[in-house]
Amino acid sequence: MRTVRSIRSLASAVIALAVIVAGAATITLASAPPAAALDNGLALTPQMGFNNWNATHCGPDFNEAMVKSIADLFVSSGLKDAGYQYVNLDDCWAEQNRDANGDYVPNATRFPHGIKALADYVHSKGLKFGLYTSAGTLTCAQTMPGSLGHEQQDAKLWASWGVDYLKYDNCNNQGVDAQKRYTAMRDALKATGRPILFSMCEWGQNKPWLWAKDVGNSWRTTGDISDNYASMLSIVHQNMALAQYAGPGHWNDPDMLEVGNGGMNDTEYRSHFSLWSVMAAPLLIGSDLRKASAETMQILTNKDVIAVDQDRLGVQGAPISTDGGRDVFVKPLANGDRAVALFNESDSPQRITTSAKAAGLPAAPGYAVRDLWAHTTRETAGTIAATVPAHGTVMVRVSASRRWAMYPPAVDTGIDVPVAYPGALPIIQPGTATSMTTAVTNSGRLPAIKVRSDLTGPDGWTVQATTRRTTPVLASNRTLATTWTVQPPADAKPGTYDLTAKAAYLGASAESTVQVLVLKLTAPPSGTSYLSDVSWLRASNGWGPVEKDMSNGETAAGDGHPITINGTVYKKGLGVHAPSSVEYYTAKKCTSVSADVGVDDEKTANGSVTFELWADGTKVADSGLLTTADAAKHLTADVGGAAFVRLIVTDGGNGNDSDHADWADAQITCS
Ligand code: GLA
Repeated sequence: MRTVRSIRSLASAVIALAVIVAGAATITLASAPPAAALDNGLALTPQMGFNNWNATHCGPDFNEAMVKSIADLFVSSGLKDAGYQYVNLDDCWAEQNRDANGDYVPNATRFPHGIKALADYVHSKGLKFGLYTSAGTLTCAQTMPGSLGHEQQDAKLWASWGVDYLKYDNCNNQGVDAQKRYTAMRDALKATGRPILFSMCEWGQNKPWLWAKDVGNSWRTTGDISDNYASMLSIVHQNMALAQYAGPGHWNDPDMLEVGNGGMNDTEYRSHFSLWSVMAAPLLIGSDLRKASAETMQILTNKDVIAVDQDRLGVQGAPISTDGGRDVFVKPLANGDRAVALFNESDSPQRITTSAKAAGLPAAPGYAVRDLWAHTTRETAGTIAATVPAHGTVMVRVSASRRWAMYPPAVDTGIDVPVAYPGALPIIQPGTATSMTTAVTNSGRLPAIKVRSDLTGPDGWTVQATTRRTTPVLASNRTLATTWTVQPPADAKPGTYDLTAKAAYLGASAESTVQVLVLKLTAPPSGTSYLSDVSWLRASNGWGPVEKDMSNGETAAGDGHPITINGTVYKKGLGVHAPSSVEYYTAKKCTSVSADVGVDDEKTANGSVTFELWADGTKVADSGLLTTADAAKHLTADVGGAAFVRLIVTDGGNGNDSDHADWADAQITCS
């Protein structure tokens, strides 16, 4: 599959060609005498504000009324007080053509009173105003001109309108060197004499962190964010490796916020906001605040978290460990405190621990730990621990405060739900008793007094402690472990249910919730069956659904062809697209799985994958790398004793372009 970005570069190439054909290929950069540095005194802490792009793109909602309402809301809803300052317009604010003087013309439909009037309105609220264009001949949406070759004239116009901020994109750049293009605009902005924050947006393509410290106040480090967890996570992974390059006046920009746009849940949006803040990222709200929920506003105005982003020391926090999807980010703060973000990348709750020492704090008898989302403070002897929900972040501020002893000890609780292998679904069958343990741990220096551990399930469930669940005193660094029997009613409907552990003790309490899946599992029939005739437990694919008895056509169900590997056609099998995982419940009753595996003939180039068979947590077969050119390989494995079997296809390490993978004649034998 082609990516959106490659379609867009194709479009830029076509336009570039058109420009050359039209004989307008020579672009002279309108550069003022070179200034040595940016030196505009702006963004000493990361910029905060609003930009309409993520909420509206170039849709009709992007207009004067919207922008004015956002400015009003900044004042009335406490966002201005929380530090948000810039109200910025993205692509599509101008008409397609410049006027007779060669100046930008505000889009008459969206901004009937012009841009200057809007900037004046924003200024009248005590806020600042920003615009967008591209360091190319057209912007990315291609509905308005870019500023390449017009830098000085455009900067002058914007300054006359009262523009305080420029986001400068990278589309349609005609192949002109990025350093030249961005430096030309820096110099043009500087020559206006008006302080204009310069936000570079070349998506990290030319490694701006290596050269743009004196060019821009911030530079995008990645491609565009989209409103989903996978996109946010991949941006975190790219941006977190660049911490050393950020500092006051020059920040890494992992793109604007999606908080409130609806594609992630609030736990994920809290992670998004926490991670942007611990990474000292610009905080540009990207949702339509006129429709924001109370929860969205609570996230965006969390002053404890914003204080971490805006800390004047200006250090980008970086991970000190990233193990098993458990990331620990640390950001040193101006007063000597450390902000610590415990981020659980994975799909199930995990306990994440670190220590004041690992976070870089000096040795002390105790530390104060402030939870920046719960807004509570506890004392710790050194350990910082929490059970973090799937995709969640616990963010704390740790200080070697002499007053640590005035706070209750930091106690956390967690539930260990037994699973067949790490990452397996936490399944309980209706009417079946499952044994689980809770662990209440005191990380405080002081003892926790009158400790009681609770576990609660949904109405109608039986939840009983089978070991001790209270203790008069839980000493420092001790754990109260309790075993429980948990049983859903026999007629429990299939679905996801919450189990909540609570630890109550003198002066405070702690809580954590896990989700379990109630499901009636059925093992495959005895004898040998085609896997395409057996129901799977879950299946995931890089493109389109997993297909039974046909190849994967990438989009709708049933859009494949007869399974064919190097000319051999198979009637039975599974057609998947890397990365893929198909999981079966085998109830420890099955003995072997076999298949002829290979890349389907419907792709003639680029496909390269590996096929793996997993019995619970153990890989029991691996095809090695197979490409479009290879004949089918017979894969067979012993899966005896496994409760779950997974058929996994990886992208072979080179992305998943054309990775149509067939499990031809896939069969399972069970007793
Ligand atoms: C690029 C930028 C986005 C946005 C759009 C507008 O994709 O990276 O942030 O400005 O262009 O077209």
